Amino acid sequence: MKKHAPAFERNHEPIREVLARELPATGTVLEIASGTGQHACAFASAFPDLTWQPTDPDPTSLASIAAWRDELALPNLLPPVRLDVTEMPWPVDAADVIMCINMIHIAPWEAALALFAGAGRLLAPGALLYLYGPYRFDGTTAPSNEDFDRSLRSRDPRWGVREVRELGAAAGEHGLVMRGVVAMPANNHSLLFRRV
Ligand SMILES: C[S@@+](CC[C@H](N)C(=O)[O-])C[C@H]1O[C@@H](n2cnc3c(N)ncnc32)[C@H](O)[C@@H]1O
Repeated sequence: MKKHAPAFERNHEPIREVLARELPATGTVLEIASGTGQHACAFASAFPDLTWQPTDPDPTSLASIAAWRDELALPNLLPPVRLDVTEMPWPVDAADVIMCINMIHIAPWEAALALFAGAGRLLAPGALLYLYGPYRFDGTTAPSNEDFDRSLRSRDPRWGVREVRELGAAAGEHGLVMRGVVAMPANNHSLLFRRV
């Protein structure tokens, strides 16, 4: 059954604008934590020369992605694959871009480390790892993100808004360098990493 994420309505167009500047002309985009599948559909539609591979570990999300995919019948949107970043090896063996929207704050820190490890393994030199979400910069974030951080930690103490400096250091361990930070609406940011 199709799921709807309210945040999708607010964030998909600003994200598409950043992607339009950063994505290659062709190739396969591996989307981690696709959730409802709405971003996969929107971006497969917006970038018809790229192939979109949605993934998620959650069975309900996989069913939602499949339902959206069936409805829209986009030729460049592949069937969803079950992928938990912390379970190696990943069930995909190639990607020209990896993107992950709103996952690393709502999962243990190990998930961020595993995301960087998997991306470092799969991506060729120069390839993009795109992250989107709320972040901390030198310990500081917007009051709304502080509230969100508290609510995340109350749900699971292993979750929380991540520090960009720590993300940069962890990514560097896997050959990924942060080449750009783009301010997005509602106190979110796009983080652009490139494989060196
Ligand atoms: C807040 S939702 C975001 C979904 C979607 N990207 C969006 O922005 O609407 C977080 C997603 O992260 C996924 N997730 C949580 N832990 C994960 C892990 N270890 N590996 C991959 N995905 C994970 C969940 O299943 C969920 O779909």
